[in-house]
Amino acid sequence: MCGIVGILGRHEASPILVEALKRLEYRGYDSAGLATVNDGHLERRRAVGKLVNLSDLLVREPLAGKAGIGHTRWATHGAPNLANTHPHRAGPVAVVHNGIIENYRELRAELTELGTGHSTDTDTETVALLAQHYLEAGHPPREAAMRTIARLEGAYALLFLFDGEPDLLIAARKGSPLAVGHGDGEMFVGSDAIALAPLTERITYLEEGDCAIIARDSVEIVDENGNIANREMRRIEIDPAQIDKGGHRHFMAKEIAEQPTVISDALRHYLTEDGRDVVLPGTGVDFAGIDRMVLVACGTAYYACLTAKYWFEQLAGLPVDVDIASEFRYRHPPIPDRTAALFVSQSGETADTLAALRYASGRADSLLSVVNVPESSIARESDVALPILAGAEIGVASTKAFTCQLTVLLLMALRAGRDRGKLDAEALADRLSALRGLPAILNRVLARDSEFREAARALAEAGNALYLGRGLMYPLALEGALKMKEISYIHAEAYASGELKHGPIALIDKTMPVIVMAPCDALFGKTVSNMQEVMARGGRVLLITDAEGAQQQDDGVWRQVILPQVDPALTPILYALPAQLLAYHTAVAKGTDVDQPRNLAKSVTVE
Ligand code: AGP
Repeated sequence: MCGIVGILGRHEASPILVEALKRLEYRGYDSAGLATVNDGHLERRRAVGKLVNLSDLLVREPLAGKAGIGHTRWATHGAPNLANTHPHRAGPVAVVHNGIIENYRELRAELTELGTGHSTDTDTETVALLAQHYLEAGHPPREAAMRTIARLEGAYALLFLFDGEPDLLIAARKGSPLAVGHGDGEMFVGSDAIALAPLTERITYLEEGDCAIIARDSVEIVDENGNIANREMRRIEIDPAQIDKGGHRHFMAKEIAEQPTVISDALRHYLTEDGRDVVLPGTGVDFAGIDRMVLVACGTAYYACLTAKYWFEQLAGLPVDVDIASEFRYRHPPIPDRTAALFVSQSGETADTLAALRYASGRADSLLSVVNVPESSIARESDVALPILAGAEIGVASTKAFTCQLTVLLLMALRAGRDRGKLDAEALADRLSALRGLPAILNRVLARDSEFREAARALAEAGNALYLGRGLMYPLALEGALKMKEISYIHAEAYASGELKHGPIALIDKTMPVIVMAPCDALFGKTVSNMQEVMARGGRVLLITDAEGAQQQDDGVWRQVILPQVDPALTPILYALPAQLLAYHTAVAKGTDVDQPRNLAKSVTVE
């Protein structure tokens, strides 16, 4: 996905656009560019690579003008080279775009037929050329933009800027979020409220199919049927401190450190004053009235769902299916009566998860979502959206959002246990008391950062790694392997420990570190056998366990991390920390870009 921003300002636009793009850079960072209207004329500056390269270019070749658009790119169509860098321009119109135009080849062919050639590989250039075509046919800018938008299929957030129009921006939203920021005598547009945070807190979110005709003192929003739409202006207060590193070296480090606090915030939000019961918002969720749940997500959020499956089944006796969103949406699974569908998404904008929710709409008894952005598309299209209250998560690798997702999902499972008569009030109160004590335990583990840094130094030399876990630790092994993959680029795989002998053991040799996540629970003895099988073949085992497990396991493990003993139901939240810290310090040791790993983006709003 990409970040887009626009300004009709009272001051020079370039520096403000660059600052806004910095807050959007987590969405994509292959290249970046600006266009402004300066003395009535469109001008562009573009640079490949990180945003800093564009900033350097602007120092050498300043770009004047108080109206402008900007873009930071995650390449979908066309290599991340200069020619493919947005804004794309066709004569008197410049365009920035987030999304995919699915019918761009037909449009491209139509324009070629008319003698209009393309100079890039991007779908976005086609949009600019189509707008130019309508301008040259005599349509005024607004009409040219609206005619262009009407021809597009696919997902897009678009901004149009026109030669000779220093007081006009046209915005369009379909499948990719877009927010309009209201200033004093100036207007802003951004992919999300974070980009606009220091500029304004008065935000209007465009809805699916909306177009906005923006001037410095007015916004006219037209819905997909061409009718004037009144969209709510909200006050979105994002503390600018939330979007800086707070003295940490990386956003990821800051967000790992914030986990005890934000988990406490989530607990305060959902627990009763006396801390003995769970209160879910809105119409609430009637767990006694359903026979099954289906949980759908992508990536780390999917692993949170896999964890929740164990909780709902063990604590509430509620059968749960878990699905990867991109599989669910195309498999068209039957959804029986008395089934609730739950969608987990940090951004609330992941294209596959949103599409899965739309498939379930009208089929499931209720659409629930667990999100970090309450104004997001997934939240807005759910019957009940439960916020995780993690605060802005900027690091591309999800950390605090994951443990806050787990916290909210565990609270839901405990509430379900109560509703379905599996947990009496006392048992529920005991679990909640243990959960309330968890943030302090997490703090103690985070204080042992140097221990993880030490272990990571050795991991950084590995080319591969294997993560093993059983029961609740199996999804955590998957999450640990994902963290390691996505920020250190080490090929890490995760297996249920019981699967080791069904193939993966062939991978074991002295070069393969095996990270075993295993609190001393009922399954620990089986995991010790797995470790012995690994060590007997020269494999190096890094065991993450508790004091009892460390005592029980055989000598010979390569390294050990001993965590505090907690209620078994809480172990996924606790064991997420070593999974995150090992990956973080390994990436730092390898010198990779921790906050903006290669090829990744924070939220995948395109398929
Ligand atoms: C997690 O570290 C990754 N960044 C990625 O797997 C992410 O969890 C996934 O893309 C889902 O994003 P969402 O939670 O915003 O839907």
